[in-house]
Amino acid sequence: MAIDVAIIGVGMTKFGEFWERGYRSLITESGSKAIIDAKIDGKDIDAVYVGSMSPGRLIGQEHVGALIADYAGLVGVPSTRVEAACSSGGLALHQAYLAIKSGLYDIVVVGGVEKMTDVSTEHATVALAGASDQEWEAFHGITFPGLYAMMARRHMIDYGTTEEQISLVSVKNHSNGKLNPYAQFQYDITLEDVMNSSMVADPLRLLHCSPITDGAATMILARGDKAKKICDNPIWIKGSAIATDTLSLHERKSITRVQASIDASKKAYGMAKIKPNKIDFAEVHDCFAIAEILAIESLGFCKMGEGGKMVEDGETWIDGSIPVNTSGGLKAKGHPVGATGIAQAIEATWQLRGQAEKRQVKGAKVGLTQNVGGSGATCTVHIFGKEK
Ligand code: COA
Repeated sequence: MAIDVAIIGVGMTKFGEFWERGYRSLITESGSKAIIDAKIDGKDIDAVYVGSMSPGRLIGQEHVGALIADYAGLVGVPSTRVEAACSSGGLALHQAYLAIKSGLYDIVVVGGVEKMTDVSTEHATVALAGASDQEWEAFHGITFPGLYAMMARRHMIDYGTTEEQISLVSVKNHSNGKLNPYAQFQYDITLEDVMNSSMVADPLRLLHCSPITDGAATMILARGDKAKKICDNPIWIKGSAIATDTLSLHERKSITRVQASIDASKKAYGMAKIKPNKIDFAEVHDCFAIAEILAIESLGFCKMGEGGKMVEDGETWIDGSIPVNTSGGLKAKGHPVGATGIAQAIEATWQLRGQAEKRQVKGAKVGLTQNVGGSGATCTVHIFGKEK
């Protein structure tokens, strides 16, 4: 019989700039909250997976699988760090899912963590650029705002997407982030604020960018039969998929088509046996505002080139036909890179449990998360359901 996998507990820190806190304090806070939420004990845990992109460059600490097991009081438990740039969290979730699905483990902890603000923006930018192609991209001085700026400009030329449409993604995500007590930025911004903010990489401005963030997020997964015994409201993982693309942007046939996202979502929709129009809400990887437009197109919520119009028409707002980034997204909630994929799945869990408070999507039954590494070289897509 196929093994089902459910989420039985979640916990996260507030996202933000926490100079007084360390890496281990963040991940142990989110882990303790998830364990309490799941009502389990440390001795129930079979394995730990943790997504963390660049602790070596950002805080000088490697070997974080063992570090986290140690500080979580889980010495002896198998603990694995997973890295796939900004999709490290999504990939850790996929690995944890596989570990239960294979029959090896019954209860698995999966977390994500990054401590990014102990270093300057320049230092963090170089660390993040480690996710691009060192020989073809980073060596020549281009960083992620520059890569996404090229994708934005090409989308504007090919499809007529406007600066206003791209800016509305940020306006929407701040209006959602305002309702999320865990978000780094809990305030509204206007279209004028975005369009007058300082230029980072033409056409992307400051308020089109996700910030540099500290934070951690943790979930507890369980084998379906166990989950039903210990949890009143398990949330089911209906699809979990990963796909890859070329590491560097210039090798792709099209720089506005996120092929890894198309491929991973097709696999996840197949596993869940549903079509995009059955998704009630989505958390997508808006590291830069254009990335949200590319995401909704690649996930099949609209045709290629129509993402900007979809935002402009209000379809992706909380009361629209497919609410996107109710958490505030990476833009307003913040983007502690290794934690992002797990935080997206936690927002999906809260929405499906009916615990998303003021940002609750009415009647949400099925949600999707999309987590991207680099300019799209790794993409993970998960589909979650209230029912199996
Ligand atoms: N959105 C809104 N406000 C932001 C912000 C953002 N993205 N980034 C910084 N700010 C605010 C800060 O809160 C701060 O406000 P304060 O003066 O009221 O305290 C102010 O702007 C200055 O912050 P600072 O940290 O000095 O900004 P910076 O100029 O050093 O960095 C960016 C701004 C956009 C360059 C930086 O956030 C960045 O590189 N973001 C992209 C991260 C990234 O590439 N992630 C991976 C994606 S693949």
